[in-house]
Amino acid sequence: MTTKSKAAAQDAGYRVLSPADLSAAHGLRAFALDVLNGLSETPKRLSSRWIYDDEGSRLFSRICELDEYYPTRTEAEILRNHTEDILKRAGTDKLDIVDLGAGDGRKTNIMLEAALKQVKDVRYVPIDISEASMGGLVKNMRGKFAGLKVAGIVGEYFDGLHWLSQSNDRRNLVLFLGSNIGNFNKVQARVFLRQLWEALNDGDQVLIGFDLKKDIELLLAAYNDKHGVTAAFNKNLLKRVNRELGGDFDLAAYRHFATYDVFSGAMESYIVSLKRQTVTIRDIQSSFEFQEWEPLHTEYSYKYLQSDIDGLASNTGFKILDQYFDNNGWFTDSLWQVEKPSL
Ligand code: AVJ
Repeated sequence: MTTKSKAAAQDAGYRVLSPADLSAAHGLRAFALDVLNGLSETPKRLSSRWIYDDEGSRLFSRICELDEYYPTRTEAEILRNHTEDILKRAGTDKLDIVDLGAGDGRKTNIMLEAALKQVKDVRYVPIDISEASMGGLVKNMRGKFAGLKVAGIVGEYFDGLHWLSQSNDRRNLVLFLGSNIGNFNKVQARVFLRQLWEALNDGDQVLIGFDLKKDIELLLAAYNDKHGVTAAFNKNLLKRVNRELGGDFDLAAYRHFATYDVFSGAMESYIVSLKRQTVTIRDIQSSFEFQEWEPLHTEYSYKYLQSDIDGLASNTGFKILDQYFDNNGWFTDSLWQVEKPSL
């Protein structure tokens, strides 16, 4: 079977939608369907993956500046102290630094600055589903690092990685920083990492940021800051439903609440209804009733023990090359290598 060109397909009476054609429409539909699903369940839930529109991303940047939110500055400290070593372990002249979720790129900057000095031929390869954020990121990085080769990929993480691994013989160093892995539960994390393994070549490396189990007071404060930035971040989910789906959430009638489950290791975020109320969401033609004090679950942020990290690596086909810590031992960047049996 051959694939027709776009024009030939059109002559034949059909059109093959490109991922770009699909993603905008699909994005909105997926959000609407997830809201419909989540608010119909008991207990109600709305996934934190929808927090990050423009306003949500801005609020997250502000969280990263808070005294209470230790992960960002802690991981930055780790990278400042150990990037040279990490790049030495990558041990190659031709390196693609692949970035899954650069955010505003501050931590990536530390890595790239060192790589430009240390690695002969380095390329920066951000992968992101949003073409709009990609445009901004590439422009920003080119402006900051003259002479840096940038080769962004707009697409799903694993499609991008697979394409990259097949298309050249450069070594990949994949960055998955910031404890983004913490939003997955332990099973989802294992599936994600195995997909990562599948998409990469033998010898490729990944650097993963894990937030570690620690003093519970520190955890509670980090997800419950006194300036209410985290509360605004969490409630941005409701705002986004109002903005994009024609919802009528009354934000003042809900409160943010975060708690910690010592067994699962999850910081759990909720939005709690302060009174009995009904929300109507135009675009999904639905109303939902909240009882007084009824919770809506929004986010898990899993914290790890060293034994969890060891188990995760060995269960997914990676070898831990080295692990880097901050001075308090609160956070770790773990450097893994893909091990594939030769055929
Ligand atoms: C961006 C997912 C790593 O879970 O710590 C910050 C998001 N939520 N404060 C985290 C978040 C509440 C953050 N991650």
